[in-house]
Amino acid sequence: MISSEQNDRMTRVGPDQPAGRLLRRYWQPAALVDEFSSAQAGQRPVKAVRLLGQDLVLFRDEAGRWGLLDRDCPHRGADLAYGRREHGGLRCPFHGWLFDVNGRCLETPAEPDSSRMCERIQQRSYPVVEKAGVVWAYLGEGEPPAFPALDCFVAPESHVFAFKGLWDCNWLQALEVGIDPAHASFLHRFFEDEQTGEAAYGRQFRNASSDSDIPMTRVLREFYRPEILVEPAAHGLHLTAFRRIDERNTHVRLTNQVFPQAFAIPMSDEMTITQWHVPVDDTHSYWYAFFTSFSTPVDKALMREQRLKLHELPDYRPRVGRRNGWGFDVGEQLTQTYTGMGMDINVHDQWACESQGGIQDRTREHLGSSDKAVIAYRRMLLRAIDTVEQGGTPPMCLSSDEAARVRGPVTMDGVGPTADHEQMRDYGLGIDRRRRARAPWGAAFDVGAPGAAGVSNPAVAAAVAPNGA
Ligand code: FES
Ligand SMILES: [Fe+2]
Repeated sequence: MISSEQNDRMTRVGPDQPAGRLLRRYWQPAALVDEFSSAQAGQRPVKAVRLLGQDLVLFRDEAGRWGLLDRDCPHRGADLAYGRREHGGLRCPFHGWLFDVNGRCLETPAEPDSSRMCERIQQRSYPVVEKAGVVWAYLGEGEPPAFPALDCFVAPESHVFAFKGLWDCNWLQALEVGIDPAHASFLHRFFEDEQTGEAAYGRQFRNASSDSDIPMTRVLREFYRPEILVEPAAHGLHLTAFRRIDERNTHVRLTNQVFPQAFAIPMSDEMTITQWHVPVDDTHSYWYAFFTSFSTPVDKALMREQRLKLHELPDYRPRVGRRNGWGFDVGEQLTQTYTGMGMDINVHDQWACESQGGIQDRTREHLGSSDKAVIAYRRMLLRAIDTVEQGGTPPMCLSSDEAARVRGPVTMDGVGPTADHEQMRDYGLGIDRRRRARAPWGAAFDVGAPGAAGVSNPAVAAAVAPNGA
């Protein structure tokens, strides 16, 4: 049972909140590089960004360097998101003070010529890097950690596509849907089967699984009580869901929680999705998804176009949401889908998360055995928060040597032989290993080694141990 105090501890993201302090130990997605590439944005690459409850301005100076600064001008507080990008920085339109990407004040033009005032003025700035189509920011103290060698960071630009969407809810409930292997049998249930191609947006559960002609929709619908294994991994948690079809065939799906805020799931034989849930503030979050292709380059124009149709710019807000009942249609719920909210599984997930409220009241919930990954994750999260409070280093705050060893993670979805857990798991690892071997970009590693899918991080191992507090 989660107390109201624990719920606050896990969910609230301000600089003085326990979870806020933990999340500030990691790189956070701040914007898509795409947001700066349109002709209009190219003329003035300056954007207001709200991240972890802080108001910031992200910009690119004339030399192409990224800068992320507090948004209130240190002179008299006007909004730097309306600044002029010129003369080597961002200039406040109120009295013309100019700041470079490091927050250094370069000019205070209303002051006398002899004034040296600007030498004393420093706007708070934050480290920023561009990676996998996203601008990442570090809002914490001290040195940022290294990026783990996850597939989305190792693959070349041609093989990764990044997109985002805004949800009206706290980041934690948005993450928790992604580490819940049971929900797909209900929330994403379709009453009729259909085979669709690889790129069909929002329809990843409508393809056939690997090694099988059985439509995924049928497997999920008819075998709705998966056996779920939750195991510690170098990156967080490794989740295995088995759906036993008959004496000979079992559906196996391998997914992951990547600490602290991401999950990694298979999209198809070709692609894997790694998705971060990033707090805007306590009651809003962005999902940032990285679609990584193992063999062929991704068709970014097509993927972008499919998703932009369903989102409104500049905020990447979905066209359906609370304000229009997530598109709910009674006739459809009676005859076609479990939710009555269309064929796009992203909308189903959005409803599941947003309808829980701004911050889910976890004092009123009743977790069952199908929620075991959620339970393990919360335990790990609370421990990591304690670790930070005690001055320690939480999981996945990595040195560059450690980061190089955090690979993958392994994801797959397929129908293999019904056997014992280890044999079925070997089947799953084999599927992942095969596509890695085919990839032209160095995706291959020993997927069976500790750290890939097994135990290697004692902090994580303790967090999921059955007797862990
Ligand atoms: S408030 Fe920004 S220069 Fe005066
Ligand atoms: Fe889902």
